Amino acid sequence: MGEENLSVELIAKGAEAELREPAAGRGRLIAKGAEAELRRENLLGKEVVVKERVRKGYREAQLDESLRRLRTRNEARLLHGAKGLGVLCPVIYSVSNYELAMDFLGGELLYDLLKKEKGLVVLEKVGEALARLHEGDIVHGDFTTSNVIVEEGKPWLFDFGLGGFTKEAEEKAIDVLLMKRSLMSKERYAAFLKGYEKYGEAKRILKQLEEIERRGRYVVRAMCVSRGETHQASQ
Ligand SMILES: Nc1ncnc2c1ncn2[C@@H]1O[C@H](COP(=O)(O)OP(=O)(O)O)[C@@H](O)[C@H]1O
Ligand SMILES: [Mg+2]
Repeated sequence: MGEENLSVELIAKGAEAELREPAAGRGRLIAKGAEAELRRENLLGKEVVVKERVRKGYREAQLDESLRRLRTRNEARLLHGAKGLGVLCPVIYSVSNYELAMDFLGGELLYDLLKKEKGLVVLEKVGEALARLHEGDIVHGDFTTSNVIVEEGKPWLFDFGLGGFTKEAEEKAIDVLLMKRSLMSKERYAAFLKGYEKYGEAKRILKQLEEIERRGRYVVRAMCVSRGETHQASQ
């Protein structure tokens, strides 16, 4: 991937990506996740991020290509759809087979922000953003603090490659569950819910979430029982 001639300096390392501040080369590598490489580039005078889904050698070639193409298109369609619902997310400038170019977001990753402050005000807004998405029957698919950037107190959403258009309560509940787990604090989750409850069907989704959690515990419990462990299992 040509990193040898990029001369980059590691500035942060998250769960999914390494963030690098640049020097030279074909666009500056800002993140390298499980599936994609992200570069900061200049497109006709505009700062953009190019997200390229790179080849995965362990996948059969045809499957690899179709997955990369599918997820790239999916991401572009969902970003566009989310924007139409009034959710803040980057504008897409171009889409090709495995690559999309979008607005560079200059803020701070919610994950990093929460390490420094409680972020309760912004979390309510994150909840509101998910409420809007779900109201419009869009699910994010990977709704964690690593996929939200906060700029001037406002949350911007991105990384929709695993999302979809659906009315399914189960899939919406999984968005809430992923954020709940990623927040790791009752106080933060309560702030997030305050925003999410603006969604007309929030109650139904939260009921489904309880059901998923109950099921999850049950599975863990069943595994413990089958192994002859006697303690109460929790998630
Ligand atoms: N439009 C953007 N502007 C600025 N930084 C971005 C943008 N999109 C992604 N990033 C950064 O790159 C990281 C990885 O991008 P993401 O789309 O989440 O890819 P992955 O699928 O590998 O998680 C993000 O966590 C964020 O730090
Ligand atoms: Mg991500």
